[in-house]
Amino acid sequence: MRFFSFPLSLLSALSMLVLALANPAAAQVRQETLLTTDWKFSKGELPDAARPEFNDAQWQTVRVPHDWAIYGPFDGNNDLQEVKIEQNQEQKATLKAGRTGGLPFIGTGWYRRRLAVPGFGPGKRAVLLFDGAMSNARVFVNGREVGNWPYGYNSFSFDITSFLKPTGADNVLAVRLQNQPEASRWYPGAGLYRNVHLIVTDEVHIPVWGTYLTTPEISASQASVQLRTQVAGAGSAANLRLETEICDAAGRILTTTSTPLVVGAAAVDQRLLVPSPKLWSPETPVLYTASSKLFAGETLKDTYVTRFGIRSFKFEANKGFSLNGQPRKLRGVCNHHDLGPLGAAVNVAALRRQLTLLKDLGADAIRTTHNMPAPELVSLADEMGFMLIVESFDEWKKPKVKNGYSQYFDEWAEKDLVNMVHRDRNHPSVILWSIGNEVPDQWAPGGVAIAKRLQDIVHREDPTRPVTVGMDQFDAVVKNGFAALLDVPGFNYKPSRYPEARAKLPQGLMLGSETASTVSSRGVYKFPVELAKQKKYPDNQSSSYDLESCVWSQTPDEEFVMQDSLNYVMGEFVWTGFDYLGEPTPYDEAWPSHSSYFGILDLAGLPKDRYYLYRARWNPAPTLHLLPHWTWPGRENQTTPVFCYTNYPEAELFVNGQSQGRRRKTTSGPLQTRYRLMWNDVKYVPGTLKVVAYNAAGQPVATEEVHTAGAPHHIRLTTDRATLRADGEDLAYVTARVEDVKGNLCPEATNQLQFAVRGASQFRAAANGNAASLELFHEPQMKAFQGQLVVLVQATNKAGKAQLEVSSPGLKSGVLKLKTTKRG
Ligand code: GAL
Repeated sequence: MRFFSFPLSLLSALSMLVLALANPAAAQVRQETLLTTDWKFSKGELPDAARPEFNDAQWQTVRVPHDWAIYGPFDGNNDLQEVKIEQNQEQKATLKAGRTGGLPFIGTGWYRRRLAVPGFGPGKRAVLLFDGAMSNARVFVNGREVGNWPYGYNSFSFDITSFLKPTGADNVLAVRLQNQPEASRWYPGAGLYRNVHLIVTDEVHIPVWGTYLTTPEISASQASVQLRTQVAGAGSAANLRLETEICDAAGRILTTTSTPLVVGAAAVDQRLLVPSPKLWSPETPVLYTASSKLFAGETLKDTYVTRFGIRSFKFEANKGFSLNGQPRKLRGVCNHHDLGPLGAAVNVAALRRQLTLLKDLGADAIRTTHNMPAPELVSLADEMGFMLIVESFDEWKKPKVKNGYSQYFDEWAEKDLVNMVHRDRNHPSVILWSIGNEVPDQWAPGGVAIAKRLQDIVHREDPTRPVTVGMDQFDAVVKNGFAALLDVPGFNYKPSRYPEARAKLPQGLMLGSETASTVSSRGVYKFPVELAKQKKYPDNQSSSYDLESCVWSQTPDEEFVMQDSLNYVMGEFVWTGFDYLGEPTPYDEAWPSHSSYFGILDLAGLPKDRYYLYRARWNPAPTLHLLPHWTWPGRENQTTPVFCYTNYPEAELFVNGQSQGRRRKTTSGPLQTRYRLMWNDVKYVPGTLKVVAYNAAGQPVATEEVHTAGAPHHIRLTTDRATLRADGEDLAYVTARVEDVKGNLCPEATNQLQFAVRGASQFRAAANGNAASLELFHEPQMKAFQGQLVVLVQATNKAGKAQLEVSSPGLKSGVLKLKTTKRG
């Protein structure tokens, strides 16, 4: 296949929602429970821990999702790796301390829980579905091993019917997890860090991920919906039929159909027509549901809801990408799975906040580097409107790290790909599958054959979406046929070679699958201001003038210029949206440093200056942002360049009312002048920095000011949300700023802040975005970094009022009121 056209818009969430609300009878046929509470946890090799009678009374009681390693302590000896990172063009092996975050995730951990199985009994089946378990999961029910799954990022399920006691009462579930050293290039997390579902059905039922829904024809008047539903346990039953109704987002029934199951068949095919379909896109994330009921005669046997969207996309030679007939470039970010201070433990409020921030940035796509995402992320992408590249592997047969996925590849790669595709193929957000990232097999003998095999597996399981790989070995993959066989060639950090790839590859299109890897620390500015590679400073920070990158990577501008001039390049995925735990380049060898510097937003989710550089490009709403801050005691009369990130074409800068000149974006100067307004010769004088922006007609239309701050005076709190759901999980992200008496941010403040939450909520964690800090996220105090940090307040199960107080000696405290509600 040289040319891809995917009129099959699609798709949906294979959400296994119980129809209990809509149909009380349904509650009796399928019962799904999230196993969140009542877990016991212990670290250690405990050979008897699988046995039902094992005494776990002394173990810690935890709630799942749970990451056993995020509570620290940080230590440079945790997973110390002596490696030569070939992808980073390193010539010799060195000791890398914070590569995986310096957290204690290595070793064995056990989770145990009593398992009452509601609704279980004769003629019933029970399944455990793990959204992900880190890693090498071995699952035991009543002392017997049910199954295992090595890859920590994938979802998997086991039928536990024959392991349960006949009544469903008094069972014991035990899960053993084990993380090896030198198994990862970033912080993987540890434990049952994603949800565990218990699903009870009738003997005759629709299995896990049992529907596949596509929308092969779409016009303004109608869209066809093709639904294949698997039916398990039917035996030779003759009277089965599947009734499916399609509803719009408001729950209005649009169409229904009823189809008998052919005796002995394993699946039912249905075709329905949706009149006047509303198309899914990032701007209009309209969703529909197909609700299916499986009947034996008049008896309801099972219910299953498949959420989907209707949309079409094309990848076309020389033209690039289009969605619903509209050409567009992907405005993407790569993200790792961790949620900063929460570690790898998944939390919907945390994911929603990330996507809310990315929306404001103007991003419309995410690549889930370098592994399968949490299912909650995929569902949120459907709802909030993001296109996804769902990625599978960072390694195939040839290792990058000593104990990485390569050890499982031969036995598990196909199973892992099948689960990935089956779980996520109904989601409208997913537009591409990625079978790998910078795999060393790109240039190894046999690598091309592996790529073909993996791509064929994905095509077999989902012929409606193309396949890509993030490639870094440009010369090898262009020469050996690796890049030519992929549906969509993805290049990592190769903007200057896109024209060559266009000339040498047959596809006529490509993707900037990983771009920039610019490094910066929020609010930190270094002088002199200059373009630099692998630049290191004694404080383990990088400059926020956005001119520093790695030997293999670029500043944002270098990618922008190629994206802007080549229509066959279908957009970019910036490394990364958010900072993540581990990979503290350029400080891989310089402990302490526990997290990356690549993020457009820091580990706390606070925007760095770069946020505004991308926002100005991606979000049509006005952006006018000045850097650096303007509080530089000791720099008086020294050159202190000022940059403005804006989508206005021109602006004039003033220092204390004195014009520093007007600047216009231009293609004739150095590359950066095309995307940034820069005043490189400004002398620092305390006071006011002011920019006046002009529109294309030359009229002044907006201003922005930065003031020199006085001494720290008070703490100001702002929250992303004031009302939380009283479900024990919901989160408010409260930003604390140290301000002077006039309300200016004190941009270098490092005051130690204390957190106290009263009422119907609790303190959950804090983060300040300082990669070089070893403060623990769950302790109720932390230093402000560059004047700011973020406090996570978590709802309890109680509805009511709550209050966060942030205090610090010598500063006026900040107080914030929150509400939690059962309906929220
Ligand atoms: C890429 C790699 C990413 C990350 C990045 C840092 O080569 O795919 O996982 O390591 O470099 O620049």
